[in-house]
Amino acid sequence: MLLQVDDFGRGLPVMQTNSVLALTGATGFIGAALISQLTAAGWRVRALYRPQKGRVLQSLPGVQWFPGNLENQEALNALVAGTQAVIHCAGVVRGTCRTDFDEVNERGAQRVALAAASQPQMPRFLLISSLAAREPDLSHYAGSKWRGECAVKAVSKNLRWTIFRPSAVFGPGDRELLPLFRCIAKGFVPLPMGAYGRFSLIYVEDLSNAVMHWLATDGCDGQTFELHDGKKGGYDWDTVLTIGARVLCAGKPVRRLPVPVSMLSLGAFANTISARVFGYAPMLTPGKIRELIHPDWVCDNFEFSRRTGWQPAIGLAQGLASIFDQKPAA
Ligand SMILES: NC(=O)c1ccc[n+]([C@@H]2O[C@H](COP(=O)([O-])OP(=O)(O)OC[C@H]3O[C@@H](n4cnc5c(N)ncnc54)[C@H](OP(=O)(O)O)[C@@H]3O)[C@@H](O)[C@H]2O)c1
Repeated sequence: MLLQVDDFGRGLPVMQTNSVLALTGATGFIGAALISQLTAAGWRVRALYRPQKGRVLQSLPGVQWFPGNLENQEALNALVAGTQAVIHCAGVVRGTCRTDFDEVNERGAQRVALAAASQPQMPRFLLISSLAAREPDLSHYAGSKWRGECAVKAVSKNLRWTIFRPSAVFGPGDRELLPLFRCIAKGFVPLPMGAYGRFSLIYVEDLSNAVMHWLATDGCDGQTFELHDGKKGGYDWDTVLTIGARVLCAGKPVRRLPVPVSMLSLGAFANTISARVFGYAPMLTPGKIRELIHPDWVCDNFEFSRRTGWQPAIGLAQGLASIFDQKPAA
């Protein structure tokens, strides 16, 4: 495998194949990072987008924007026709009820997999699931990601599928963890009382780089891989706050503001009702609180690195510095 070393010292597999690949979720946080690595490596990317009033799509070399959505089987069939690989990255991370999540994360995944499986030359298929799928009973989101995995596996015994379960992804353009990092930068972070669990993280460019290694390697079919930034045993909140203080607050301590779980749950419940009434997708829900206080979101990269040679390069300090455009303190 030919590797080109990028600014972070990471090996980017150079394909120069000019092969065609279908990508869903291309307009999202992770999809945007994927597009730049894929095109840099010579892939021609057919990128799904939902036509919306006022939407402006960036014209990028090697990218063909393809209108459609996960509810439209015909559009998905056309998207994947003649491709060598399909990366299904579209998904919803916010919603008020099980249907909101299942319609996209379960049935959407099933439709994309069906489209791939119906091709005469079946493309390889990568599902970007989530570590949350490990605990399907915790939240509608977690359950929907797990059901999405099951749906993909059941589509055809001939489909060459691989599933990625990334831990929490962070990096420029992310909206989910940014409020937390902004609080750290201000010097205090509201956290649920009892949030003493451990969790893994992964920087978005490292996740995209893992996809590049998947594309460059056979031998991942029928496998599910958990992915993180290489920090064995993950992080606890104290470590995150200490690193945040060093990178974002010039070493001034960042204070934890403990919020009783009962108060947070009440807020989450009220937010869910209000989201239903006013029609927005809420971030704070009872399921999200259960995910937050879950004690173990630590994962292990060993198997994927062994099979593909992939190594993550960016830890929390360097990643935070890049989000806030600062040099990490030594
Ligand atoms: N961010 C994380 O920490 C994290 C961690 C683990 C796993 N994941 C998984 O990674 C995937 C991408 O996450 P992200 O953070 O990049 O999310 P994001 O920024 O919210 O992007 C979601 C993408 O999915 C598309 N999408 C949603 N519903 C769709 C539909 N019905 N039809 C077509 N496209 C649809 C969105 O299109 P529009 O632009 O049109 O809305 C957007 O391109 C998700 O499957 C998520 O579960 C994320």
